[in-house]
Amino acid sequence: MNEHIQDIQNQNKGIDEFEFKRRELWEKRISIEKEFHLGEGDEFKQFNWIGTFRTKGISLFLKCVGLYKRGQMNASKIKLNKVKFVYPDIPKELHGFKILFISDFHLSQHFLSWLISGKSVIQQIKIPVDLILLGGDYRFGYFGSEDFVIPLIKEMLMGIETKYGIYGVMGNHDISSIREKFEESNIHILVNEGIEINHNGAKLWLGGVDVYHGFECADVASALVHAPKDAFKIMLSHSPELIEESLLWDVQLYLCGHTHGGQIGLPFIGPIYVNAKCKRKFAQGKWEYRSMQGYTSTGLGVTDVPVRFNAEAEVVILDIVKIPFSLK
Ligand SMILES: [Fe+2]
Repeated sequence: MNEHIQDIQNQNKGIDEFEFKRRELWEKRISIEKEFHLGEGDEFKQFNWIGTFRTKGISLFLKCVGLYKRGQMNASKIKLNKVKFVYPDIPKELHGFKILFISDFHLSQHFLSWLISGKSVIQQIKIPVDLILLGGDYRFGYFGSEDFVIPLIKEMLMGIETKYGIYGVMGNHDISSIREKFEESNIHILVNEGIEINHNGAKLWLGGVDVYHGFECADVASALVHAPKDAFKIMLSHSPELIEESLLWDVQLYLCGHTHGGQIGLPFIGPIYVNAKCKRKFAQGKWEYRSMQGYTSTGLGVTDVPVRFNAEAEVVILDIVKIPFSLK
């Protein structure tokens, strides 16, 4: 761990000065939402004419070349991906710890295909998981009420057994009012904070940050400062843009979404645009960065233009594995 960060931890032992920072950033988020009227309007509203022109232009182009329907069909195909993360130096109790990770639901009142197929894929999961983590971006658009998504998410997750519950973070499509509504449904949204999980005697710290992309309301320090030194640290962030900073805090597993794997990619070349300030290797799938491992999900849903090309949607089951495994 970096010396400066060690100092922060020592100086603040027992005093949650980070609570002030958390509140300040939450107020900042609310003021941005008010400034842009994010709670008003309909789900197809864009921020400006450039966004409207781009969305309509891409849709029109795909219709003209006869690819729009194929793109829509691609968006409704969702894969269940199972990924192993191997760590040689973790407590043996964490071997086999399973996380169901779903990001970028982008649920819509008008497009139902990825909701229906997503539910069908999730309902095929017959094994209990230890944690369910949600990576943010619960609604399709950027404007209007977001309340309609919660009953849909509950319906999708119905019957999935989880030992330690459901936790999520906010995405750049989400508005603050959804946090309390999630809480009423026993889904806990982590906003620059973390929780400790004791798994058969082994400590695990789950830190979750508010969104960096578009809002700049994320504070990695607040999410990780209270993590016990011997805990296995997971960082849940909407986007991959906090990977470098999380490494300084000894995060071992970084989970994010946001990029949709580009949503539209070219064969053999990949995504045209990933909408995140990060190295291309962090834009989708499993990756490693020095001592940290991570996963950037391509997400369940899509936004703006409801299509996918060469960027398959997914629901992910992550399995933490200790190798070499020893019962000693
Ligand atoms: Fe998204």
